[in-house]
Amino acid sequence: MAQCEMRAVPPFLLPGEAAAVQRDAERLLDSAELTRAAAMAPAAGWMFLAGRVSQRVFAGQLLSVPAADLTVAYSCPQCGTGPGLGHGRPGYSYRGAPVPLALSLSRAGGWTLLAAVVDASPGTRLGADIEEPARSGFDGFDEVALTPAERRTLRDVKAELLPAARARLWTRKEAWLKMAGDGLRTAPSTVDVRERPGLRDLDPAEAGLPPHFAAAVALSVRAQASGSGGSGSS
Ligand SMILES: CC(C)(COP(=O)(O)OP(=O)(O)OC[C@H]1O[C@@H](n2cnc3c(N)ncnc32)[C@H](O)[C@@H]1OP(=O)(O)O)[C@@H](O)C(=O)NCCC(=O)NCCS
Repeated sequence: MAQCEMRAVPPFLLPGEAAAVQRDAERLLDSAELTRAAAMAPAAGWMFLAGRVSQRVFAGQLLSVPAADLTVAYSCPQCGTGPGLGHGRPGYSYRGAPVPLALSLSRAGGWTLLAAVVDASPGTRLGADIEEPARSGFDGFDEVALTPAERRTLRDVKAELLPAARARLWTRKEAWLKMAGDGLRTAPSTVDVRERPGLRDLDPAEAGLPPHFAAAVALSVRAQASGSGGSGSS
């Protein structure tokens, strides 16, 4: 049975590691990815490149092909797809054909979570998201992000537990919206994530993340029906 594979990539802490990321990026990534990073501030660019290098290495290992031989095949709800496109839903092709891999990536607090379903049937969709509770949320968050029913579930939550409860709902929303493919083009306050088929919270330990993180993963229903609903870490 196919499984949802996960890999948590920790922040790089040593100054030399950013230079190593840059070298790996130039060796492994496509020009669309390098161009996107070059338009970012240096720290953001290195974080972006580190995530993309890790994702490509992860994909290459899962497919048993050299990471450098993969070509980005992203799809954006606005811009479509194409070899020059480096943003949107992640995907790769190999020797001109799309690889049978459903992928999702999320970054927070320097960490990157990679998730994949191997041997994914066409149309399999995956979404994963991570957040640090202390850093998520803002004034008016509940009104902008939550449905009335979700807001009601927070009424009895103790104040000190509210950031974690909000982060849990938020990661569910982003995981779901990445799986659906539209991202935040869909207003999060219109998507009730208390219970949805294929959507679940991830235990940070299961994902290899620090214990205070919130994390969620969503897998398209058709993929689950065909037996791709398991989970494991690598
Ligand atoms: C997807 C989204 C919710 C993630 O935002 P975030 O929480 O800030 O960032 P995360 O680190 O959790 O996730 C980033 C990853 O989401 C993925 N992603 C982006 N858009 C996606 C989409 N439409 N569907 C699925 N996954 C998507 C990418 O893998 C991205 O990684 P990258 O930075 O290496 O490209 C947000 O970026 C979004 O809504 N994007 C779509 C908006 C859009 O379509 N704009 C039109 C652009 S032309």
